[in-house]
Amino acid sequence: METKIKQITSAVLTEAKEIIFNSGVVAMPTETVYGLGGNAFDDVAVKKIFEIKGRPNDNPLIAHVHKRYDLAKIIDYEPPYAKKLRETFTPGPLTLVYPSTHKVSPFVSCGLQTLAVRIPSHEGAQAFLEKVNIPIVAPSANLSKHVSPTTSKHVFEDFSGKIPLILEGGECIGGIESTVCDVTGEIPVILRPGLITREMIAAVVGDCKEYIPDLRSKEKVKSPGLLYKHYAPRCQTALYKPEQEKEIFTRMQEAGAKGLKVGVLCESCWVQAVREKGALSYDLGEREEEMANRLYGLLREAEKNCDLLIAIEPKKQDGVMVGVMNRLKKACVSVDIPHDN
Ligand code: TXA
Ligand code: MG
Repeated sequence: METKIKQITSAVLTEAKEIIFNSGVVAMPTETVYGLGGNAFDDVAVKKIFEIKGRPNDNPLIAHVHKRYDLAKIIDYEPPYAKKLRETFTPGPLTLVYPSTHKVSPFVSCGLQTLAVRIPSHEGAQAFLEKVNIPIVAPSANLSKHVSPTTSKHVFEDFSGKIPLILEGGECIGGIESTVCDVTGEIPVILRPGLITREMIAAVVGDCKEYIPDLRSKEKVKSPGLLYKHYAPRCQTALYKPEQEKEIFTRMQEAGAKGLKVGVLCESCWVQAVREKGALSYDLGEREEEMANRLYGLLREAEKNCDLLIAIEPKKQDGVMVGVMNRLKKACVSVDIPHDN
């Protein structure tokens, strides 16, 4: 199958709709990362998404809808505080996990009695969702465990020949995936940190918890995606704290002496020193939104050029950086076993 990247026009939206209503998969832009979209009501389409991505079948999908979509069609109940969050932060990078039973394909939520719903703000995504007027399940459009895509080219790299159409929506501004927030209980619980921070949520509804899975417990983990190695570039990686300067430069030198091509992913303040030591630098920038925006693109660039990527943790780690650090840690763990968040 030939994979085409097309600008979003009315004719292309009609073509995309046709694919979706024939159980096909279309990649779409969002303000966070690109997604691999299919009809949430269609078992065949949902199963196809898992298969194309190589995604474990116990990791549920997010249903995306346009801003005027009637949520009552897909969820059982919306607590008042969840309505407040939805009205404040969406359309935008917040996914809400609602109580939901037998509303969409059973394969979407992998047997959980909940459904994750997201209303993206990206204009192209809205146009596409409006056109199809059904919920579109869309995991990030990367092969399972690989780095998430922030451009149509990234999607093409992972899925060329496997999907018919990628909707061109430019570079994603957000850069890391949406905040996933469970709203089935008394207070909101963040399952995956992102651009909508715990502080922002708490400011609107008074309270917000962060879910830390107890990997030793037999209780079913609330968001199974938390357990997998994710976002990983295809080169060796190592993660250091900024105060480990000595170790960092020793590692660079030793790897260089072995003939390995070394790259360093870091805040701007490190770049000059890294270059002086002869390594490639991947500059995350200075501001937190900048770091979120650049992270995945740099990881994909680094995997092409480096044998070893040394990542240095940014100094600031609160607010939006909770999400950035979460992704950075998952990208840089070297073993494929359950790990801490
Ligand atoms: O920004 C995003 O959210 C992107 C774009 C494409 O919208 N999508 C995305 O999807 O990141 P994915 O499949 O890569 O990540 C979905 C996350 C996973 O961690 C999954 O476990 C969690 O959401 N999730 C989905 N449904 C859930 C549910 N019913 N309960 C708990 N967690 C859920
Ligand atoms: Mg993903």
